[in-house]
This record gives sequence, structure tokens and C-alpha cells, in this order.
Amino acid sequence: MKILITKDYEEMSRKGALLISQTIKDNPCAVLGLATGSTAIGTYAELVKMYKNGEISFKNVKTVNLDEYIGLGEESTQSYVTFMRENLFNLVDADLKNTHLPNGTSDNAEEECKRYSSLLCGLPRDIQLLGLGSNGHIGFNEPLTSFNSKTHVVELAESTVKDNSRLFANAEDVPRRAITMGISEIMAAKRILMLVSGANKAKAVYNTVKGQISENCPASILQRHDDAVLVLDEAAASLL
Ligand code: F6R
Repeated sequence: MKILITKDYEEMSRKGALLISQTIKDNPCAVLGLATGSTAIGTYAELVKMYKNGEISFKNVKTVNLDEYIGLGEESTQSYVTFMRENLFNLVDADLKNTHLPNGTSDNAEEECKRYSSLLCGLPRDIQLLGLGSNGHIGFNEPLTSFNSKTHVVELAESTVKDNSRLFANAEDVPRRAITMGISEIMAAKRILMLVSGANKAKAVYNTVKGQISENCPASILQRHDDAVLVLDEAAASLL
């Protein structure tokens, strides 16, 4: 793993955006694996700036996201599809036809997982952006998820529901289930870029980088990836 330590959230976001923009410059038809969540917001804002300065275009880029809540779709302000449109897709020249997320409102979530898995096979990712859960999750692959997993339905851990409740009016409104890309599919990306900010993630960062490779900490599998880059701010790196 390559570890880059930055001063704060802003510097982490600039570095994350630089690495993603480099992927697009190297291949204007790149496939980007994207993530939602607070960590990624600053990086998307930097990418939007680069687009507005004429440095990059998303016209021919394809994107696949990690996850979506079951029950939430385009009409919901809390869905991940809405997050992606508001923070990136609607602010750049992305063609929405080329942007993919699991469909949280599908009638048959299991069928939707199969559809998404086969979509991923046809869209090998040049880079996969990841955040890190305070319990070590990647995507919504909670502790004890098999490293061999493909896209599947998950029951969210109580700690994840609690972490994510800040984005909802009431904790009871946080969906309890989601569809997530599996760990084997995350690992199939050519390059992994994990961004982590804040002292509340320091323990999970320690387990990811220095802990045993174990399903107790899903992110520890990144130690086996040939090209995993972790961009941390000082607070997130404080236990290394
Ligand atoms: C989001 C995702 C999650 C988040 C993680 C960190 O698509 O898959 O794994 O990256 O929960 O979330 P934040 O950045 O909100 O702390």
C-alpha cells in the first residue's frame, strides 16, 4: 500500500482529485468507481473546479458507484443517486447514461445484485474511490463479509446506521438495508484510491494498514492489492 499523509481534509481532497483527474487525462474514456459520503464531497468539488477550468472532461467517462440504500431512488434527497448528481454528475459534462449505481427501488433486490455484478464485469475500473467506515467497512461491506463477495444485499451494522444518521432528520429514517458492490469486485479495480479524514477513523486506518488481513476489518484486504493508494489526513493517520 502506498500511504500519503496530508495536513487536513482540504489537502486530502486536492490530492484525491489530482489522482482521479490523472486517470481521466491518461484515458478520457476511463471507468471510474465512485463512492458517496462526506469524505468524497471535497474531492468531487475539486474535480468540478478542474472541469470548469477546462482541465478535464467527463464526456466519455463511465462511472459505477459502490452502493445504494434499498428503498431510496432518484426522488429521494438522501439516495446515493441524488448525492452523485448533486455533487458531481450535474455539475460537469457527464452523460447520465454512462453513470451507474445499484437501483435501490428495484422490485427484486437479488436480481438487481446479479444485474449490477454483470454490469461490473463489462466495465473494468481504472480506479476505484473508497471511503472507510469507522468499523473498517468498504462500500457497505460490513465486518465479517466474505472477501469473495460480489454485489449483494446487506443489513447495515448498527454503528453504520448511527454514523449515517447525521444525514437524516431522524435516526429511524436511515434505511437498514443496502445493495453494495462486493469485496472481490472492489479488489478487481486496477487501482484503489482510499481517502480517510478525521480522528474517529484513526483506529480503522490502523487496522487497515497494520492489522492482520481479516474479515473483521474488510479494508485490511487492501494490503493484498497491487496498486492501493491511501490518502489520509493527519488526524486519520495519528495511530500509524
Ligand atoms: C459510500 C460508502 C461508504 C463510505 C464510508 C465513509 O458510498 O461506500 O463505505 O465511504 O461509510 O463514509 P463518510 O465518508 O461519510 O465518513
